[in-house]
Amino acid sequence: MTEPDFLTATRAAYDSVASHYAEFVGDWFCASPLNHAMLSVFAELVRAGDGGLVADVGCGPGHITAHLHSLGVTAFGVDLSPEMIALAREAHPGMRFEVGLMDALEVGDASLAGVLSSYSIIHTPPERLPEIFAEFHRVLVPGGHLLLSFQAYDGPDPLSEAYDHKVSLAYRYSPDGVAELLLKAGLTEVARLVIAPGEDPQRGFPQVHLLTRRETSSGDAVVA
Ligand SMILES: C[S@@+](CC[C@H](N)C(=O)[O-])C[C@H]1O[C@@H](n2cnc3c(N)ncnc32)[C@H](O)[C@@H]1O
Repeated sequence: MTEPDFLTATRAAYDSVASHYAEFVGDWFCASPLNHAMLSVFAELVRAGDGGLVADVGCGPGHITAHLHSLGVTAFGVDLSPEMIALAREAHPGMRFEVGLMDALEVGDASLAGVLSSYSIIHTPPERLPEIFAEFHRVLVPGGHLLLSFQAYDGPDPLSEAYDHKVSLAYRYSPDGVAELLLKAGLTEVARLVIAPGEDPQRGFPQVHLLTRRETSSGDAVVA
C-alpha cells in the first residue's frame, strides 16, 4: 500500500531536524511544570490500575518515555522517524524504542495500560484522526487511559486549523471536537487541562492535555 504523502513528509522533516530537536525539547520539557502535572496524574492512574505497559506514541527523542519511567511506569516509545528512534536509544540505553506508526501499533488488542501522545497528532490531517483514535482504543485495556496533548484551536468549529510549523505542516485542534471524536472511538473524557495562550510566547496558541479512558464493554467506568 502506498504511504500517504503527509507521513513521508513528516518522517523526512523529523529525520532532518532530529538532533537539533532533541537538544531544545529537553529544556522546554523541564521548564513546563503544567505538562509535568498531567503526566504525574496519568502515571498515578496507570500505577493505580494493574500497572502494565504504556506506549509513548510519537515519542521523538524519548525524554517523556524516560520521565514516565522515573514516575514508576513501564513505558516504551514509538516514532515514525528512524533518526528520532536512534537518538532515543542512544540517550536512554536499556529502554525500548521502536520505529512505527501510531495508527498501526505492533501490540495486541487490549494489551496496554496507557497510551501517551504528546504533540504527536499535530501533523495528522483531521480526516485521519478517527483511524488513530480507533487504534488507541484497540490497544488499551478496558479502564486504560490515554493522555493526548496538542496545540488547541480556540472554538468548537472548525475542527482544526493548519499552521506553518517550523518542522512540517501542522494542525491545531478544537479540544471539544477532538473530545467528541475520542468519544465516538470509545474513549471518554476524564479531565482536561487548557494552558492559556499567553503561556506560548512563540505562537500564542492554547495547549490542551486531554485525559480519556477506555470504558469497560458495559460502559461502566472502572474505579481504580
Ligand atoms: C512535535 S514532535 C513531539 C515529540 C515528543 N512527543 C514531545 O512531546 O516532545 C512530533 C513527533 O511525532 C512523530 N510522529 C508524527 N506523526 C507520527 C505518526 N503518524 N506515527 C508515529 N510518530 C509520528 C514525529 O516523528 C515526531 O517525533
